[in-house]
Amino acid sequence: MAFFSINRFLSLALLALLASAAHGQLSANFYSSTCPNVQTIVRSAMAQAVAKEPRMAASILRLFFHDCFVNGCDGSILLDDTPTFTGEKSAGPNANSARGFEVIDAIKAKVEAACKATVSCADILALATRDGVNLLGGPSWTVKLGRRDARTASLNGANSNLPGPGSDLSTLISMFAAKGLNARDMTALSGAHTIGQGQCQFFRSRINGGDTNINATFAALRRKTCPRTGGDRNLAPLDVQTPVKFDNAYYQNLVGQRGLFHSDQELFNGGSQDSLVKQYSTNGAKFAGDFAKAMIKMGNLSPLTGKNGEVRLNCRKIN
Ligand code: HEM
Ligand SMILES: *[C@@H]1O[C@H](CO)[C@@H](O)[C@H](O)[C@H]1NC(C)=O
Repeated sequence: MAFFSINRFLSLALLALLASAAHGQLSANFYSSTCPNVQTIVRSAMAQAVAKEPRMAASILRLFFHDCFVNGCDGSILLDDTPTFTGEKSAGPNANSARGFEVIDAIKAKVEAACKATVSCADILALATRDGVNLLGGPSWTVKLGRRDARTASLNGANSNLPGPGSDLSTLISMFAAKGLNARDMTALSGAHTIGQGQCQFFRSRINGGDTNINATFAALRRKTCPRTGGDRNLAPLDVQTPVKFDNAYYQNLVGQRGLFHSDQELFNGGSQDSLVKQYSTNGAKFAGDFAKAMIKMGNLSPLTGKNGEVRLNCRKIN
């Protein structure tokens, strides 16, 4: 009997060890004694920001993606350039595009006021992302915490690890595979484009004959505010149907050839992801569940834990 219990205890301990080794030391209750209110603070600050501008949920979600795909979810995207430090903000996918930094700063200030030098910027971004999605009607999920902030950034990584609006399906699949995310994860995560806005310069060729797999009525609608020359930064919703609702309309758009970017429509163009896109287009709950699972996976990409990195006091600069 005693032998059985010890054995059981050891195997449970081993299981726990293996589970934590899978993504560093992240745990759901990481701040439960050091900053018990962090989740409440982040949630209410995001509620405020999203009430003021619904798009902010999208902008923060994209920041998290661009953070996690470059050396893991370590808050590196938040670092400002200085004369002696080159960050990721000037990289092609981020320059004049990544936004929401002021909201992260505001949340960080509130969290610092409650718990000094305790909660990392990387964790704040992970929580703010989850809350933004949920505030626009999307799923919620448990965010494991304990990420620490990088003392470095990678401009090269930001330029080479992130897909672009002209990427084809095989490029999308391989860039996500390079991060340990499979094609299903990629297709579910792309559903993030059910919210937010994109610039004319990134879909101009698609709506002007560059792509044939586009709904003509949709192309004409987009051409109204995206001229052939000029207006590079004019915005259009990524989801033509419900741009501030986190739902499965993105996939319905793809089935109707109304994806905004070439890269979006690649997910439904006679290739390997067609059947999954069709499934998500008719089953919003299935999409929501798969999106949440894939977000957890993406959020656990090579975090800095333990004594690695630091807890930045100001998300824009290393301590
Ligand atoms: C699959 C490959 C992807 C490509 C090629 C891509 C590309 C883009 C581009 C070009 C924009 C518009 C940027 C601008 O006009 O300034 C954008 C916006 C956005 N992306 Fe992606 N993206 C991809 C995947 C993702 C993923 C995985 C997420 C999150 C999980 C995401 C979240 C967003 C959001 C929310 C916006 C709107 C941001 C805003 O309104 O500020 N994207 N994406
Ligand atoms: C194109 O999209 C419109 C809605 O924007 C829809 O009414 C129409 O049926 C679509 N056309 C085709 C050929 O799918």
